Amino acid sequence: MKAALDWLTRNHERIVHGLADLVAIPSISTDGEHHAEIDRTATLTATQMRDAGLHNVDVFRVGHSLPYAYGEWLEAPGKPTVFLYAHHDVQPTNYAEQWQSDPWKLTRRNGRLFGRGSADDKGAISALLGAIAAYRKTSNQLPVNIKMLVEGEEEVGSKNLLKFFEVHRDRIKSDVIVVCDTENIEIGIPSITYSLRGIVAVQVDVTSARIPVHSGMGGGGLPDAAIALNTILGRLYWGNAPLPVDGLYDQVRKLTDVERQAFRKLPFDGAKFRNDIGMVPTARFATEQGLNEYEQTWRRPSLTVIAQEASSIKGASNQVLPKATALLSCRIVPDQEPETVLAQLTAFLTKDPPWGVEVKVTPHGPPVKWWMTDPNGPAFEAALGAMRTGFDHDPVAIGCGGSIGFVGPLSELFGGAPALLMGIEDPASNAHAPNESLHEGDFKKLMNSLVRLFDNLGKLTPAGVR
Ligand code: BES
Ligand code: MN
Repeated sequence: MKAALDWLTRNHERIVHGLADLVAIPSISTDGEHHAEIDRTATLTATQMRDAGLHNVDVFRVGHSLPYAYGEWLEAPGKPTVFLYAHHDVQPTNYAEQWQSDPWKLTRRNGRLFGRGSADDKGAISALLGAIAAYRKTSNQLPVNIKMLVEGEEEVGSKNLLKFFEVHRDRIKSDVIVVCDTENIEIGIPSITYSLRGIVAVQVDVTSARIPVHSGMGGGGLPDAAIALNTILGRLYWGNAPLPVDGLYDQVRKLTDVERQAFRKLPFDGAKFRNDIGMVPTARFATEQGLNEYEQTWRRPSLTVIAQEASSIKGASNQVLPKATALLSCRIVPDQEPETVLAQLTAFLTKDPPWGVEVKVTPHGPPVKWWMTDPNGPAFEAALGAMRTGFDHDPVAIGCGGSIGFVGPLSELFGGAPALLMGIEDPASNAHAPNESLHEGDFKKLMNSLVRLFDNLGKLTPAGVR
């Protein structure tokens, strides 16, 4: 292991170059216009997998999916098999004028590496491959068996991933899962994520007429679809109280006292957060009365209008609009059932429509499941120990307000294999936003921790990881 750690130090620039090569390709999955680039990051990831010393490397697809890069190393008989996950697709670069350097050119500034995908999630590909190469280029042997999958459609909801798992079930079967797509609570504080929220999203269509009408004729006499929609959405305003949707909290799992105490001990700097996102001075936080920020975003449901359309400002004219549409996204938490939440939202949105307009609620995409595990047992001990030494800081167990829908189903497919969620983002990473970046110090510490994690897991038997 010592040799592997030294290799990481000596080869850091080489690893960063590999990351720069990945970042240089705009593998945006959200607009459907960059499939050629996603093919290229899949191929490049496969090449980097081979260079790192993985075997049987290939690019796979299931049906019309975007490409998955897959590689393995299975020469440690009797040792646990570790499934590694990251994704090579990225978010678009909207708000382009706010980027301080080319999003597709990895740029070092103030101890960080800037570029779209540097943190979410190409940095994780490089970190995992760095840890693998560290062993393969020194002792040649890894302490565990590896099966590594790098997905190309995570940012569009991993539409085919469960299918991929089903098709390749025997090939990918592993004893423990390591998902590298989450964040550390703060720079320098290694964090293991033990809960994720899920998503139920709906499209709300409001219709008042078949065609728009000159507002000089109909204005005042006709129901305005945009106002009707926004009246309905306005009923959701929660101030600092729970969301006003009937029954929404009935299934929400209560925080244990131990969890509450642990959450309260975690660092949170509200003033800094405000400043980082440029929250306007007059705006207040919308947190429920009496709740800690983490309890709110990790373990309470939330509602967000992620899009709204009635007519465009460019080309607007004096018309009473007959149709208005919104996408409403609900993050769900343990133990909410997606079907129940869908029914609750539908009932809320369709009740008593203004002027009796027509309101149609349809699911927007398949629901994403929440996930939660008990962060104890040999695999977690192995990870916590590795991170403690790798970061030279006590690790913390955290929740996550975001979603990674496959974690639960994959763990089940492997008969309840433990899932270790450890990532490379931090609160200043600006994932999905302009000036995304990776903290280079934490990047090194994560690779160091992964080398130690493989070593720790190698001391366990395949059955002994749970
Ligand atoms: N890396 C994120 C998940 C995440 C979010 C980790 C916040 C840490 C903090 C992941 O890439 C992501 O954005 N997931 C989507 C899933 C959706 C498309 C189903 C999400 O949470 O919106
Ligand atoms: Mn991600």
